Amino acid sequence: MSTPLLIAPSILSADFARLGEEVRAIDAAGCDWVHVDVMDGHFVPNITIGPDVVKALRPHTKKIIDVHLMIAPADPYLEAFAKAGSDIITVHAEAGPHLHRSLQTIRALGKKAGVSLTPETPESAIEYVLDQLDLILVMTVNPGFGGQAFIPAMVEKMRRIKAMIGKRPIQLEVDGGVTPETAPLCTSVGVDVLVAGSAVFRGGKYAENIAAIRRACAS
Ligand code: DX5
Ligand code: ZN
Repeated sequence: MSTPLLIAPSILSADFARLGEEVRAIDAAGCDWVHVDVMDGHFVPNITIGPDVVKALRPHTKKIIDVHLMIAPADPYLEAFAKAGSDIITVHAEAGPHLHRSLQTIRALGKKAGVSLTPETPESAIEYVLDQLDLILVMTVNPGFGGQAFIPAMVEKMRRIKAMIGKRPIQLEVDGGVTPETAPLCTSVGVDVLVAGSAVFRGGKYAENIAAIRRACAS
């Protein structure tokens, strides 16, 4: 069964001085989810935003807030991100010693649980937690910054993960370097959700940019 393609703009590429307005603009431009990149300057070499910003943005959209935690440890902050109004909380498989526990905690907080893999982590890292998962996020760049180039070797990883998922109700998402050129490589192997930062926010034409990604994947 094929499901409609979902586009999740990363607000990492938004104007941080006008974040509420930016979230309303991507919502109006036809995004499906709002992707929030949380970085701690420790797990990744950049620092972004925390749960208070998610809380402040929550009233600006009814769409799914997809929180990507690039922080280690993640467990002490899961409750705060849940209470802030996140719908999906994704942790990195590389970020802590007890991935299964982190996923159980997210679900116990009433949220969808995601796991992300950095480019070098094989799909076998999540083989035994598949039944604790609602989402798998394949990083197609090294996490930390927007505007990097898509790593083509990740397409084969997406294909293998899609096969591992089988009929389980798990969404497959990719993040990093997604453009109208690279997006079709992902959807051709069954990716459900595309995160895109620079490709959505560039030039200020959000609706046009989102439509260009959808169009590229439809053909
Ligand atoms: C990278 C972030 C991505 C990134 C995507 O660590 O997780 O969400 O902002 O940005 P682009 O689409 O510009 O690669
Ligand atoms: Zn992200």
